[in-house]
Amino acid sequence: MKCLFAALFFVCVSAAIGIQFQPNANVIYEKLSVDQYPSYNPPSWNERAKRARYLLHYSNWGVIGTISTHYNRSGLPFTNVIVVSDGPLDNSTGVPYFYVFDGDVSVEDAVKNNEVSLTLSENTVGYKYCKGLNYDPELPLCARVTLAGKLKKITDAEEKKAASNALFTRHPDMRSYPSSHGFYPARLDIELVWIIDYFGPSYVVPLSDYWAANPLL
Ligand SMILES: *[C@@H]1O[C@H](CO)[C@@H](O)[C@H](O)[C@H]1NC(C)=O
Ligand SMILES: *[C@@H]1O[C@H](CO)[C@@H](O)[C@H](O)[C@H]1NC(C)=O
Repeated sequence: MKCLFAALFFVCVSAAIGIQFQPNANVIYEKLSVDQYPSYNPPSWNERAKRARYLLHYSNWGVIGTISTHYNRSGLPFTNVIVVSDGPLDNSTGVPYFYVFDGDVSVEDAVKNNEVSLTLSENTVGYKYCKGLNYDPELPLCARVTLAGKLKKITDAEEKKAASNALFTRHPDMRSYPSSHGFYPARLDIELVWIIDYFGPSYVVPLSDYWAANPLL
């Protein structure tokens, strides 16, 4: 009985709120503008190298694709969520760093074949033309970037320190990942930068432009 009252109360209150609060794109945009949008102000669509660097720098996560070695799907694509950082907020390196461990399915794939792809979407950072106006992430104004290359375990002590700093400053939870799992920093050695950030075709950004761009300027 208690349960029924609680349920009815919830339904009534929800209905009452619904009547006063008609969700629409502006409301959603207002909400996002407080939390996320003001900090995400990307370069224009025709500055593709900088846009790609900007999206990587502000991304907290993306989707990683590997060539599967699991589930009777050897040689077929497999995707997974992965947390990423290319540096502390005030320093963009352009190098995607990850904190991984050998028992991860995608890492097991990469140990066999380290050619991977990382996909990022401006939808994940709450950009106005993705989420703020309630558009779908397939809208070309909502940039998406795929960085493809080789996943490498970082072994150099100095680089390990920099990568850990890039990861831990942006993802403090990582500091408490169970040490028994043996997490280690890894990086993507980028060979391809692919972007859509406007209507029309997709583009491949020359690597030299990618490395020369500074998303913080
Ligand atoms: C893979 O194939 C084997 C042999 O046909 C089967 O026993 C097993 O259940 C399959 N595994 C998956 C995850 O489909
Ligand atoms: C930015 O990061 C790079 C790579 O870790 C490092 O060499 C450089 O000193 C850093 N720059 C600043 C201003 O922190």
